[in-house]
Amino acid sequence: MHHFNYKDDALFCENVSIKEIAENVGTPFYLYSHATIKRHFLIFDGAFDGVERLICYSAKANSNLAILTLLAGLGAGLDIVSGGELYKGLKAGFPASRIVYSGVGKRVDEIDFALREGILMFNVESLEELALIDMRAALMDTVAPIAIRVNPDVDPKTHPYISTGLKKNKFGIDTETAIEAYEMASTLQHVKILGVDCHIGSQISEAKPFEDALGNILSLVGDLRRKGIEISYLDMGGGLGISYQGESPPEPNEYAGAIQKILKPTEYKLILEPGRVIVGNAGTLVTSVLYRKTGKNKEFVITDAGMNDLIRPSLYQAFHAIQPVVKNEGKSIKADVVGPICESGDFLAVDRDLADVKNGDLLAVMSAGAYGFVMSSNYCSRPKVPEVMVKGDTYSVTNRRQSYEDMIRNETIPGFLMETESGQTG
Ligand code: LLP
Repeated sequence: MHHFNYKDDALFCENVSIKEIAENVGTPFYLYSHATIKRHFLIFDGAFDGVERLICYSAKANSNLAILTLLAGLGAGLDIVSGGELYKGLKAGFPASRIVYSGVGKRVDEIDFALREGILMFNVESLEELALIDMRAALMDTVAPIAIRVNPDVDPKTHPYISTGLKKNKFGIDTETAIEAYEMASTLQHVKILGVDCHIGSQISEAKPFEDALGNILSLVGDLRRKGIEISYLDMGGGLGISYQGESPPEPNEYAGAIQKILKPTEYKLILEPGRVIVGNAGTLVTSVLYRKTGKNKEFVITDAGMNDLIRPSLYQAFHAIQPVVKNEGKSIKADVVGPICESGDFLAVDRDLADVKNGDLLAVMSAGAYGFVMSSNYCSRPKVPEVMVKGDTYSVTNRRQSYEDMIRNETIPGFLMETESGQTG
């Protein structure tokens, strides 16, 4: 459930009219609901009551500092995948002791940063990375807490770009090599084995793949125990899906029930890394209609938001519901909703039944809180759009719109281009 609802004909986020925000902030912009994020986190966390756990929100889904600060305040931990996410997480108030760090390509400077800060654990994705972490920890005269990210070879039945736990995926270490990795880790002086980790994919809409992955992980943990290697944390990653277009993924309590059914008799501390399920339906992208255009066999609604602002439809053929910010009485139309970018792949919706909108009307692209702004870019030299958070009857711009100057701030024109052909400065 979220807090985007119509009052009469106008779409509200909590108690604030979206039209009013658009008039003040301009379009496009991302809009987040504080109450929705809070509710989603508390429901997810509460579903595991009775289990020793740490819910590490996955920063990659949306690393807006206001959202991170809200979640840190609710007692969440953080799942990071880069030095930048560590930096933002610390700024937002997450204690390092609640941060786990995954990713196949951790750089030396990022490893050092995480070691210096004293994060809870590194989810190690290769034997080479394990050796490097040990070496960097030795140089810093410290010990790195680690889990091996295991690839359990389970099909999450999701879009191929966001499945991560199959043999063919680059993530984690297969179960046989994982035993080797743990044996290697147990001989290293500057590494402490703390847990086992896996993450099988994203937007998963059934409980079975999670159950299968957990079964595989527990059998690995049994094998390790027989070899005298003990772990205390089980990190089962993120991946629980949301409803974009009538999908019915398990509710957090069903998901928790499925995990607890298998985990109950064990004494491990559970870590989960939910991203989308916390913020996905808590955000919308608000855009204005610029033009209508009737092609030979298609109707187009051209908006001021494009694929650089929200890439999910172009990249994954993802469906996002599109709602009018103010309902009108007109008939509905079937149209492609497209952005201003010079690519045919620049669309927010294809062949969509939609309100009969006209120039100046506002549209809300729903369920855009996860993997929306964070995946946006300056393509076509389009400034990044603002992010706004609503709480009750107030709102605040938490990330202002980039200006043209912001966009070129880090660029310099080299001196050698300032010289004319005769060698004089032009
Ligand atoms: N943990 C790890 C190690 C991950 O790689 C991910 C997501 C998560 C947790 C969080 O997964 P979630 O609960 O959000 O499903 N850009 C794509 C999604 C990519 C997901 C990458 N990893 C999209 O827009 O659908």
